[in-house]
Amino acid sequence: MPRQAYVNGRYVPHNHAAVHIEDRGYQFADGVYEVIPVHDGRLVDAELHLQRLEYSLGELRIPMPMSRRALQLVATELMRRNDLTNGFLYMQVTRGVAPRNHFFPKDAKPALTMTTRQMADKGRSPDWGMKVISVPDQRWARCDIKSIALLPNVLAKQAAADQGCDEAWQVDRDGYVTEGGATNAWIVTRDDTVVTRHLDEGILSGITRLSLREVLAREGYTLEVRPFTVAEARNAREAFLTSSTNYVMPVTEIDGNPVGNGHPGLLTLALRAAYIDRVVAAGAGADSFAAREAAPA
Ligand code: PDD
Repeated sequence: MPRQAYVNGRYVPHNHAAVHIEDRGYQFADGVYEVIPVHDGRLVDAELHLQRLEYSLGELRIPMPMSRRALQLVATELMRRNDLTNGFLYMQVTRGVAPRNHFFPKDAKPALTMTTRQMADKGRSPDWGMKVISVPDQRWARCDIKSIALLPNVLAKQAAADQGCDEAWQVDRDGYVTEGGATNAWIVTRDDTVVTRHLDEGILSGITRLSLREVLAREGYTLEVRPFTVAEARNAREAFLTSSTNYVMPVTEIDGNPVGNGHPGLLTLALRAAYIDRVVAAGAGADSFAAREAAPA
């Protein structure tokens, strides 16, 4: 059977899946999305992703197109139709179709689409780690919303690709790393403290980040939730990034300088293994979605 997509209530062949040209997602980037990993035919941390979707929609005053439970049923049915074992499910909700006008339309129905992508684990190989560059953070002031408006992220990641690198760490005006173009950023200090930036409107509350925090707590690692600079990251013992598409991925180079000995860090690899065992395979991630965390004093 050819690959299918879900478009506003219908399962349709992927290569014919289309939305109207006056969809507000197309015209205004007026919508949000989720990327949910699929492992052995099962969604990873589905409930947390759907809670974040509900949060993003709520912040934009877009109604949920259906309940979280119903969204999960549609997702599962699409995975079944596409025989999806390992890869991702992409879900997008926009404010709907209406004649172009900036004001919220009165009677538009939110538009819901889903696609799947089969991807073998080799796309996530940690053997080499990733190279990152640093770039100014040029995004808006509500990066906690998982908006489909991703132009600064696209430009940041393309700048990385142009330099033969994999990801761009965005840096705020005070010189602190906010997050990657599509990943959260972490370092490990010389005394084995794991550091990641606190949650506020400056970054996305990554689901991988939340569940990795759970793993860190259970395994007794020391975590500091605070911002760090590019200089601190360059001098760190280890660095890594997290996302649904990479899980826990070593960062071996920042702006052309090796991190640590330039090889994937041992603590990072241990965290990756623990994350895959506990969260990806056994489903023991964070309890609930959190959009904020107390900023360090
Ligand atoms: N990106 N920060 C940003 C800006 C992101 O876009 C993402 C996810 C993350 C990590 O979040 P999570 O752990 O929930 O995947 C952090 C997805 C994968 C994407 O845009 O493809």
